[in-house]
Amino acid sequence: MNSSNQSEKTNNESFGDANAGGNRSSVTVIGLGPMGKAMVSAFLNRGYKVTVWNRTSEKADELMTKGAIKASSVNEALASNELVILSLTDYDAMYAILESVSERLYGKVIVNLSSDTPEKVREAAKWLTERRAWHLTGGVLASPSEIGNMESITLYSGPIDIFEAHRETLEVLTGTDYKGEDPGLAMLYYQIQIDVFWTAMLSYLHAFAVARAYGITGEQFLPYVSEI
Ligand SMILES: NC(=O)c1ccc[n+]([C@@H]2O[C@H](COP(=O)([O-])OP(=O)(O)OC[C@H]3O[C@@H](n4cnc5c(N)ncnc54)[C@H](OP(=O)(O)O)[C@@H]3O)[C@@H](O)[C@H]2O)c1
Repeated sequence: MNSSNQSEKTNNESFGDANAGGNRSSVTVIGLGPMGKAMVSAFLNRGYKVTVWNRTSEKADELMTKGAIKASSVNEALASNELVILSLTDYDAMYAILESVSERLYGKVIVNLSSDTPEKVREAAKWLTERRAWHLTGGVLASPSEIGNMESITLYSGPIDIFEAHRETLEVLTGTDYKGEDPGLAMLYYQIQIDVFWTAMLSYLHAFAVARAYGITGEQFLPYVSEI
């Protein structure tokens, strides 16, 4: 480990050989909302062996018909692969899932592709470091239908050597944009981009509501805003 903050924090102790190899065509995905399901499908389409786990276990059934392996427990999901991708509503869900199995986290690379605040992300990276796991933050700038498309982008931050070691696998999902070692940085870029997105969406809806209130139809108004 030559450049990661995480290794400095632990007096250069190694957490296992997370950047030295492992099975590059095998991955665990935890969280099977629309995003997690799309990610599993993208990995399966590229020939990856994919182990899945979800709190509501039936959500894995359709993916099993496509070739995914359903772990019977979080322990089994963690044990199956070094690389573990989380696609959850938020970071609290990560603790809800991993807290009771934290002794199993040693040496794992946890790529959290869930959204939250940069501060929560930094706390989570610290929490994982204390359990001798690696953490990469990902902010996915894509919808589920855009997963598997290299023109979509996911912002990443965390230890550069861990990112580089797993970049090829992560690029099965989307293109990548590495922002730096600070685990909060990718989430900060993600959230300020989301700020622009939602502000634009809300202003668009508001403008249409005002137009409609004064008898201007969407069809009449659209040419004036579509370019913007
Ligand atoms: N959907 C998008 O277009 C989009 C785009 C960019 C980024 N993202 C981000 O990607 C992440 C996943 O997106 P999504 O649309 O798939 O979200 P979602 O529908 O909220 O998926 C939630 C997943 O989190 C699990 N979960 C939530 N709380 C939990 C808890 N306390 N314990 C255990 N599991 C829990 C759910 O399990 P159950 O099935 O058991 O409920 C489900 O697997 C989110 O952070 C979202 O902000 C989504």
